Amino acid sequence: MSKFMIFLFVKFIILWVVTINLVSASTLRGDICKDSSNPDACRKTIERLKKEKEVDPNNTIRKIINFGLQRSLILKTNMTDWARHGNLWANELAAIKGCLDAVDVTVDDLRKTLKEVDELESAQKAQDMQEFTFHSNNIKTWLQNAINALQSCQDDDFAMPGLEGVVKQEALKRVADLMIATQLAIWTIEFPSRGSNKR
Ligand SMILES: *[C@@H]1O[C@H](CO)[C@@H](O)[C@H](O)[C@H]1NC(C)=O
Ligand SMILES: *[C@@H]1O[C@H](CO)[C@@H](O)[C@H](O)[C@H]1NC(C)=O
Repeated sequence: MSKFMIFLFVKFIILWVVTINLVSASTLRGDICKDSSNPDACRKTIERLKKEKEVDPNNTIRKIINFGLQRSLILKTNMTDWARHGNLWANELAAIKGCLDAVDVTVDDLRKTLKEVDELESAQKAQDMQEFTFHSNNIKTWLQNAINALQSCQDDDFAMPGLEGVVKQEALKRVADLMIATQLAIWTIEFPSRGSNKR
């Protein structure tokens, strides 16, 4: 190891320990929801995640991403259904189609993220900080990309005037859920102790 690598590594360990001590008290609890745009939905999402007890407690990020992936796939099925069989107005259909593209992007990004989490865990085992940082940044990039896509569904596809009603309400509620799950995953990667402590 070069001096620089050792320096980075020590810095990383210090940061890790400091973060664990600072954040462990607030492990994946309701209080991280207060900054979200929809605190109630955020808390409900966390409650649902907590119920999935069969999952390794050390794998919170994987759990959150799987949760998001599952939700995205259901939303995709529902939207496809609505587009085919729903009695939709033309503008509703257009919004749904636009939003379906965003959901596709999200599914793709979440799958890429899961692969990156595998890489992240290998890097962690090998104590390779450079690799760890690389994959952790990739994860943030994919998740942010998913959030941006979902944001466009909210702010562009469903924002046109005259588009009120059940379809919009249903779609936006679930999109908000997905955005929160994605944001939670970003927080988990930014504050590792949130993902590595017991709940
Ligand atoms: C979770 O992480 C802790 C601390 O790193 C470790 O002691 C424990 O064995 C891990 N549990 C599982 C199920 O991997
Ligand atoms: C959405 O899809 C799921 C899974 O296919 C289904 O169980 C649910 O009833 C659907 N919901 C709506 C509102 O279409």
